[in-house]
Parts: sequence; C-alpha cells; structure tokens
Amino acid sequence: MLPTTITREFVKGLPKAELHLHLEGTLEPELKLALAQRNRVDIGQTTIEEVKRSYQFDSLSSFLQVYYPAMNVLQQEEDFYQVAMAYLYKAREHNVRYAELFFDPQAHTSRGVAFQTVINGYHRAVRDSRTLGVETALVMCFLRDMSAQSAADTLEQALPYRDKILGVGLDSDENGNPPGKFREVFSKARQAGFHLTMHCDIDQHNSIGNIREALLDIQVDRLDHGTNIVEDQDLVAYVRDKGIGLTCCPVSNGFVGDMKGREILQLLRAGVKVTVNSDDPAYFQSYVSDDLFALAQHYPMTPAEMVQLARNSFQVSWLPAVRKAAYLKEIDDYVAGY
Ligand code: ADE
Ligand code: ZN
Repeated sequence: MLPTTITREFVKGLPKAELHLHLEGTLEPELKLALAQRNRVDIGQTTIEEVKRSYQFDSLSSFLQVYYPAMNVLQQEEDFYQVAMAYLYKAREHNVRYAELFFDPQAHTSRGVAFQTVINGYHRAVRDSRTLGVETALVMCFLRDMSAQSAADTLEQALPYRDKILGVGLDSDENGNPPGKFREVFSKARQAGFHLTMHCDIDQHNSIGNIREALLDIQVDRLDHGTNIVEDQDLVAYVRDKGIGLTCCPVSNGFVGDMKGREILQLLRAGVKVTVNSDDPAYFQSYVSDDLFALAQHYPMTPAEMVQLARNSFQVSWLPAVRKAAYLKEIDDYVAGY
C-alpha cells in the first residue's frame, strides 16, 4: 500500500531508472585524488576538503570550469572502468534498476586520450553492472561548445562501437550553441540508429527557442532539463501528446538558482512524462533518491506522484517494451508489499 507520507526510506527503495547522469560527474573527491596520485596529475588540490571547497558554482559555466579540469585524472581504460563501477555501487544503494549513462568522449579525446580507451573502460562497467543487479546503457554526448565538425568526427569514431552506445546527447555550455548548430550530426546519428536526446539547460539565453528547435527541428526523443517549456503551453501539449520525456535534476538546478520544483510538478500534473535525476551527483552531493526526496521536502506532493515519477523513468527510457513492463511490475509489487 502507498504510505501516507513520503519518507526517505520509501523513496530509496522504490525501483527507478536514472536517465540523466554524467559519468564524469560521478567522480567523487576520494577517487579523484587517488587517480590523480596514480596518474601523477596535478589537479591543484591534495585533500578532500580542498577538493570540496573548489565546488562553488553559481552558473552552468562556473560549474563547467571546475568540472572539465578534474577529468585530467582519467587517463587509462581502468580509470574509466573504476569511475563507472564506483557509480554503479551507489546506484544499487538507491535501487536504480536501470541507468542510461552519459559520457563526454571529446572531453577526453581533446586532451589526447583515445576514444577506444574511454569506450572500452565504460563498456566493461556496463557489462559488469549486471553482476550488481543494475542494467545499464551508454549515451554519448557531444560538447556543444566545440564545433559541429568535431561532433561529426566523434560520431564517426563511435560508429565501430555502435552496438555499445544506445543514444547520443548534447551537453556543456548552451550559451551561443543552440540545437540547430548540430542539426546535421543529429540527423546522421538518427540514421545510424541512435536514440536522440539533448540538454536544454535552465534559464538559458533563448531557452524556449532552443527547446522548440530541439523538439520540432531536431526531433529529439527526450529533453534533458527543459523545464522552461512551461513558457509555451503549445510545446507542453506537444511533449505530453507524444510522450516525450523531460529528465529534470532539481538538486543540480538548486545549485545555480531555483530547484524548479514548481515547474516539475506542474508538468507532472499536466500529464508530461517528467523524471527526476541526479545529473552530476559527486559535484552536487545528491544521488537520485536524494533528488526525489529533496523535491518532496521542498514542494508538497503526494506519494502517488512520487510513484508516478518512478514509473515515468522507465516509460521514457529506451528499454524494449518487455523490459519496461517488467520494471513497472517491480514498482507495482514494491507498492503492494509496502
Ligand atoms: N555537463 C555535465 N552536467 C551538465 C549540465 N547540467 N549541463 C550541461 N552540461 C553538463
Ligand atoms: Zn546534465
């Protein structure tokens, strides 16, 4: 039976999918320092306190300025494997049953790490995730502040690994880098059989124009963030009618402004398939159950709505229908046995 109030323990145990999680954003300070030492990389900090003190962001760009330099500690295939496996242990703790994991190959190839080093490390973790009872898939994101040509080259590099990558996305700094810049590469990715998603970050310059372009021009299957869609009720009706998911991240939103909880719940109540996710949990110190619980703590919502968020996460995942049905039944069983 549904509980009368939403507790942290109920949320943690609820079977869920994580659809907006940057693998590079799961690099916890302890592992970051250990890898820095192993690979003899100077990251400018030597203690966990120093690393944590560097996590001061008030905008997407100030976050990215801390985020990218830290990736220097990732050098060998084993490093990519280790960061992904460390996340998967966390995922299991939060009863994430399925995760579609973003990774940023250009953040590594641009500093001389081979594409194959990245994909082989991450894919080994995808394979081993099943031993932890978590099913996973990889989603390759292009860095939108790099050129369209660089994205096209990255897609070429990915084609031999087509069977190891489920979809493509777009992340990094949205300012001056609208969806249309990547029209051609996304069209090629679609033809190659990849699912498509794209960040439409919070309160960006021309957020609503970028959301419109992502949906109507690029025709993405999902939007990452995208809560500014509430500014245009025709677009809200469009995503609702098409069942297009929005992968929202309240705690990461809260770091640079408002959690956008009102918008998330408004969209949920309008029948839009919104989901709650953790984005970069090591940096925002919040894994997916923490994000879900934070939403419930700050904005009045019902246990049934919490369950609907979990249901949405499987429904808008890129799993085959039979797998979705199996996970949805796990939610039903969890609630029935509660
Ligand atoms: N890279 C990692 N997290 C991101 C976010 N929230 N927006 C854009 N790029 C990102
Ligand atoms: Zn993100």
